[in-house]
Parts: sequence; C-alpha cells; structure tokens
Amino acid sequence: MQKLAFIGFGVVGQGLAEILLEKKEILNKENGFEYSVVAVSDFTKGSALDNNGLDLEKLLELAKNGKISDYPGATTGLDALETIKKTNADVVIEVSYTDIKTAEPANSHFRAALERGKHLVTTNKGPTALFFREISDLAKANKAEFRYEGTVVAGTPVINLAEMCLAGNEISEIRGILNGTTNFILTNMEKGKSYKDALKEAQELGFAEADPTADVEGFDALAKVVILAKSVMGAEINPEDVDRTGITGISLDDVKKAADAGLRWKLIGKVKREGGAVKASVKPEKVALTDPLASVGGATNALTFETDLLGPVTIVGPGAGKKETGYSLLIDLLAINMKG
Ligand code: HSE
Repeated sequence: MQKLAFIGFGVVGQGLAEILLEKKEILNKENGFEYSVVAVSDFTKGSALDNNGLDLEKLLELAKNGKISDYPGATTGLDALETIKKTNADVVIEVSYTDIKTAEPANSHFRAALERGKHLVTTNKGPTALFFREISDLAKANKAEFRYEGTVVAGTPVINLAEMCLAGNEISEIRGILNGTTNFILTNMEKGKSYKDALKEAQELGFAEADPTADVEGFDALAKVVILAKSVMGAEINPEDVDRTGITGISLDDVKKAADAGLRWKLIGKVKREGGAVKASVKPEKVALTDPLASVGGATNALTFETDLLGPVTIVGPGAGKKETGYSLLIDLLAINMKG
C-alpha cells in the first residue's frame, strides 16, 4: 500500500486524483497497486492530514470550493513543509507552482521529502531543470526514488521510454516539439490566422502558461531541453547554455513562404552530442514535410530520439492537459510500485 501526500492540489494534482479514483480497482487487479492518500497541502486551498488516510472523493469535492481545510477530523492549517515533516507518506507528489528562475518553493519541498527518505514524483520543471544532479544525488543517498516523467511532454512517456525501453542504445540526439502553445500558434498561422488571435485561442483553451512569454519566447521548451540533456544525455547543460529563440519573430508571410516551398515552421528543442560535447538549443526551424515532426499539428508534442541500435524513434502525444499530465504521475507511482 503506497501512502501518498500531495503538495499542490491544482489542475495536475486533481487530474491524478480523478484517475486514481476512476482506476482504483483495475490498478489493484492488474498492477497490484494500492494507495491511500494521507495528506494534501495546497498554497491557496489549504491542507488536510490524517496519517490513517483521507477520503479522496471528499478531498476533490472540497478542492473544487477551494476549502481543503474544511476536511472534518483532519489536522489542518499545515503549510507544505510542515505537511512533509508530519506525514507518514511513502511518496510525496510535488505539483505545486513552477518557478523556472529560482525553483522555489518546490525545491525546498523536494529536499524535505527526499531527506526523509520519501519517494518524490513530480511534474515541476523548475527544480528538475535547475538542480537535477543535486536532487538525484539526494534521492540516491536516501534510498528514495526521484521520478519526473511529467516535467517533459506531460504523460506521453519520454523519460521512462528513454530509461527503460531504449536502454542499451546510445542516444546521440533528441529533437522535437516540446511546447504545445507555440505549435498550436504556428499551425493556425499556416491556416491564415494571426499570431495574436492564435495565442488568444491557446490561452482560452488553457494550455498556454499563465504568462505566455514562457511559451512564445521558448523558456518552457528550454526547461524541458535542459531536463532531457541532464537526465537522458547525462550532460551538464544549464539554462544559460541553451541557444534560445522564440517564435515571436515569425510573420504570417514567413509561414506562407515556407508552405509554398514545401516546408513548415516548428519550434524545435534539440540536444545533440557533438564530439565530446553536448549542445542544446530551442529555435524555430523550417522542417521538410517528410520529417515526422512536420505532421505534428496543433497543441500536440513529439520527440525523435536518434539511437545507434534502432535509428530514429519518434513518439507523438499530448504535452499538456489535466488527465494527460495527471497520468504522468500515475506511471511514476506504478514504476515505484514495481520496484517494491
Ligand atoms: N504551456 C505548455 C505548452 C504546457 O504549451 O506546452 C506544458 O508544459
């Protein structure tokens, strides 16, 4: 039985909670996975802790009204760090606010969990991108798992794919569409829509970041490129090492000219081994229509791994969304469960 504590209970945390409820029986039957939620702490919705277990359905109901602290009979009023200290959870699910510049407060949550030997599963890009090595070392020193599938391309399996299914390959390049908002904008510009209208629609549909600068200037894709470089390629690439350009300089005319030439603009994130070094970039590229990445439209993401044993392997799937990102946490919980 895995005892779970949620740090952050917004869209992604609730996405996982809904999956856990919906799939409870099948996860038990097919995967031997049983869970109990013992704590939830959210910056705006409050907290509830009961080391004997909380009712997840009740938590979701309270979260909808922003009042987790109204949970009857639970210890309430604890902040995230107090929750991590007091909970008997085996796994901390860290899905609080992401800050790509300082990584706080999530980085302190990561450390508090791992120092206590609790496994950590997260979708939080800030600390994973900035402090990957330190966090991995801390996890190892405390015999805890650090799993972060959802930091890159939501629940579409790229981290687990590289770690498990492509094991034994030498991966010389990872290249792909790592941001849904910009791909959605470029796809719509090809249909004649203005940049401004397409961005507005992406915001309305909910996959653009709160500040869409992170999307359109390539910072969101950059964080994912750094995570891939550090985790899959074992490279010491930091945000300032990534050659970054966003899509704001691409006009409707540029998109039309490319289409006339049989090409398509894509914001491409890339990590490549060159000699002994690893280079990383996020840049708009004109991609030939024969490239599998060219056919990936709208908010969908895709990544091509260049491997020595299989050649190029491309995975295409959602890179954002409530259930889609919530699922990334489930696959990490199952991986921990499999290791026993
Ligand atoms: N804003 C991001 C995107 C969400 O558009 O891909 C997932 O990181």
